[in-house]
Amino acid sequence: MIDPPPNFLQPSANDAGGAPDDVRERLRADHDAVLAALDHLRREKDPARCGQRLRELRTAWVVHALAEETVVYRVLEGATDPAARADERFIEHEVVGHLFEKLAAARPGTLEWNARLNVIRDLIARHIESEHGQLFPQLERQFDEGQLRELGERFRLARDKLLLLERAKAA
Ligand SMILES: [Fe+2]
Repeated sequence: MIDPPPNFLQPSANDAGGAPDDVRERLRADHDAVLAALDHLRREKDPARCGQRLRELRTAWVVHALAEETVVYRVLEGATDPAARADERFIEHEVVGHLFEKLAAARPGTLEWNARLNVIRDLIARHIESEHGQLFPQLERQFDEGQLRELGERFRLARDKLLLLERAKAA
């Protein structure tokens, strides 16, 4: 049976009891979608479908990372809070982006492919862990409920726009 493609266009899951349009919920839903896409790719054995799965994962990641950089990291950049690690997060996104390029050039199922995929998985897991553990509390400290929703809406708009651009590029 073929798994359905991960759908990162779905509205945010509301799994933390917060408003679904709260930026933290939107980020969480995106993270879940990236992990699902990653999981599909890791389980895929057919080389041709690996290419398709990789494109899905890359698009999910790129759109998430760019929207997050444009909307979320920007508002935290001037923060005096020493916990603000926007620079490190920018670099994290960049590193994963480069790894996708290398992975696309590798042959599915080879040692190189599996090794690169494992590194990507570790980096993405680290990204998610650090955002849930540090970025979310930081957002909570700096913004009230209404602002978190407004950020969520800005994130959604940025993301939708980026997704259209990525699709146009791929067409
Ligand atoms: Fe993120």
